[in-house]
Amino acid sequence: MRIVIEDDYQNLSKKAAVFVAQRVICNSKVTLALPTGETPKGLYRQLNRLHEESVLDFSEVSTFNLDEYYPISPKSSLSFHKYMYKRFFNHVNIPQNQIHIFDSEINKPEKECKEYEELILKQGGIDLAILGIGQNGHIAYNEPGSNWESKTRLVELSQNSVIDDALELSNRSLDKAMTMGIKTIMQSREILLLASGEEKAKIMEKATRGPIKKNVPASILQLHPSLTIYLDNKAAQKL
Ligand code: PGA
Repeated sequence: MRIVIEDDYQNLSKKAAVFVAQRVICNSKVTLALPTGETPKGLYRQLNRLHEESVLDFSEVSTFNLDEYYPISPKSSLSFHKYMYKRFFNHVNIPQNQIHIFDSEINKPEKECKEYEELILKQGGIDLAILGIGQNGHIAYNEPGSNWESKTRLVELSQNSVIDDALELSNRSLDKAMTMGIKTIMQSREILLLASGEEKAKIMEKATRGPIKKNVPASILQLHPSLTIYLDNKAAQKL
């Protein structure tokens, strides 16, 4: 495990972008697993800029998003689909057929998850999985208690991940998601974990220094042979 601590969120995002850029430049056909949430927004901005400045070409890159709420329309502003196009895909040149996000309007989410897992295998696996971390230690939507052997599947969100009474969903709660499993993520050749802000300090201590246990899903990453963690000072204050 390699831990890199940056002064602030801006520098964390810049360094993370350089890390990803190196992988894209060394392997133009790289397969990435991509996160959503607050943390990677700066990374996507930096990657978009590198593309705009003709430093990075994404035309042969393939991507698999880590997770998506279920069910949800891709048009919903809460969907990860919407997030990804707005923050990244609309700004770079990844061909549509190389972008993979869960179809979250289908009736058979289990089938969708199984096919997603198969597609990752068919693609030759994930080269680099970029992850955020929840305050409860989740990675993607593998909530506390998730099985280490879990594959891509439909899950119930834990209480602190549920989005209650989303107005734009006619007050329905978002309480399920399709997510890559812990095993799926651990099988990635390389993992980059990003965390920023003091609200992540406690969980980063548990995830990196504590015992490997199921109620801290991210703790399993200690066993990954090629894990890099980028933190800002605030997220690193308990290390
Ligand atoms: P955040 O989410 O980047 O919005 O903190 C991370 C996560 O829950 O995985």
